[in-house]
Amino acid sequence: MQEKIKALEAKIEEAKLGGGEKRIEAQHAKNKLTARERVHFLMDENSFEEIGMLVTHRSSNFGLDKNKPLGDGVVTGYGNINGRLTYVFAQDFTVMGGSLAEAHASKIVKIMDMALKNGAPLIGLNDSGGARIQEGVVSLGGYADIFYRNTQASGVIPQLSAIMGPCAGGAVYSPALTDFISMVENTSYMFVTGPNVVKTVTHEEVTSEELGGASTHSTKSGVTHFTYSNEIECINGLKKLLSYLPQNCEEDAPALDYKLGNEIREKLNSIIPQNPNQPYDIREVIGGTVDSDSFHEVHKNYAENIVVGFARLAGRSIGIVANQPAFLAGVLDNNSSKKGARFVRFCDAFNIPLLVFEDVPGFLPGTDQEWNAIITNGAKLLYAFSEATVPRITVITRKAYGGAYDVMNSKHIGADMNFAWPSSEIAVMGAKGAAEIIFKREIKEADDSEAKWKEKEAEYAEMFANPYNAAARGYIDEVIRPDQTREKLIKAFKMLENKVDSLPKKKHGNIPM
Ligand code: HXC
Repeated sequence: MQEKIKALEAKIEEAKLGGGEKRIEAQHAKNKLTARERVHFLMDENSFEEIGMLVTHRSSNFGLDKNKPLGDGVVTGYGNINGRLTYVFAQDFTVMGGSLAEAHASKIVKIMDMALKNGAPLIGLNDSGGARIQEGVVSLGGYADIFYRNTQASGVIPQLSAIMGPCAGGAVYSPALTDFISMVENTSYMFVTGPNVVKTVTHEEVTSEELGGASTHSTKSGVTHFTYSNEIECINGLKKLLSYLPQNCEEDAPALDYKLGNEIREKLNSIIPQNPNQPYDIREVIGGTVDSDSFHEVHKNYAENIVVGFARLAGRSIGIVANQPAFLAGVLDNNSSKKGARFVRFCDAFNIPLLVFEDVPGFLPGTDQEWNAIITNGAKLLYAFSEATVPRITVITRKAYGGAYDVMNSKHIGADMNFAWPSSEIAVMGAKGAAEIIFKREIKEADDSEAKWKEKEAEYAEMFANPYNAAARGYIDEVIRPDQTREKLIKAFKMLENKVDSLPKKKHGNIPM
């Protein structure tokens, strides 16, 4: 028996060595950790249990039968993150470039099925040259098996992807089907077709980094939600993100202990500038309202005119969607509508209550917006809020103009509680533009047109640049002092804690895609 145990231990050592010491050194030389090191830093100490360590591929194509590495280039298993069950796969670039084929895919599929059946999050640490070229169609089939499960698991368990190396070709579609993507700056990239193909087809010369690096995807495409300067930061980011999420769609996110005290926040009284056209940073309002240092921003550098992220209020997880007056005056456009809609749908799928801070002058006009389907994209946000059944609260801090008033979680589309600060302006449009349209004739015929325009602008502003018309109709439940905001929200979310709401029976809705 002793000999057999020794033989087993030798096999385990062999598997742990991955593609060998030289390839591990090469991986480190690129500022990258190995798959096992990543799992080690991700999981609670001694909690990781590996599954399928001895799996090998079955191919003999192109001499592959002479190289059958144990584990087939991916480490899979389960363990705890902050004490909570989580499934993980980590591709091992030291073994055939982490390329994916039949056996490699079947290992990932196995833990995906387990994660779905047992209702726990799945994390994928991607570092792979894509479909294993030698194995042909079984590699493609393996990917499709994973894509299918990503879709089945969507909205049931949280799925997080970290890109920690190359991610090319169809391989990008598994991360894209998951809820959140994190990338590591300078060592990871994602693209459907690489720079060489791009050059051949479009004659563009572009580097991998420019085409699909972390900076590109966090600012231009919005494909990635988080970027980190190194892998350890990325792993810590994954753990932090999980802390705001439930294990699955049937559960609530874990709440931290919180003892109520003085919840008045006087600082909030001095954030809105005197001049209604002067910008301010909505993050100051968010930070001043939620539990200290609890705001975890998602998609920080993309479509900055809307700010989204998770936070805690009196210890409970909430999702925040906020117009950002400091960027493009907080206007809604194509990208911000898509960004907001996706976040709202995630929160709704996972029972995370939604808090909206609204200061929006309307939708961005122009050919660029119209030709890129602001109608369809704006409708996404409208649809996402309208179908959300989680507790939903809106605080209007300043402007709530036009269609954007409706879209940003208005009472009319199902918000549970709507508060407004005294600085709120709720109207069809800004006073200047409104006066120009409805008093066009008076302004034109006046001896001093400019003065008439100003007079009519002031008249319109007097009537609508306030929250009281909306409050008189019950569209606003309460006009509150900014310093009361936190207290009011804590009470309102507590009141909504057991909210039960459902959508009409349907197979699924048809969100404007
Ligand atoms: C088999 C692969 C591989 C692959 C890399 N390797 N990619 N083996 N299939 N897809 C192997 C290499 O042969 C090499 O083996 C080892 O992994 C390390 O690769 P290097 O090229 O030495 O590393 P590096 O210089 O860092 O370059 C990494 C890379 C490059 C940029 C990822 O390897 C590369 O371009 N690979 C091909 C990428 C690709 O086109 N994949 C297919 C995408 S299409 P040795 O033994 O020499 O060390 C796709 C379809 C999926 O994925 C569709 C799903 C719908």
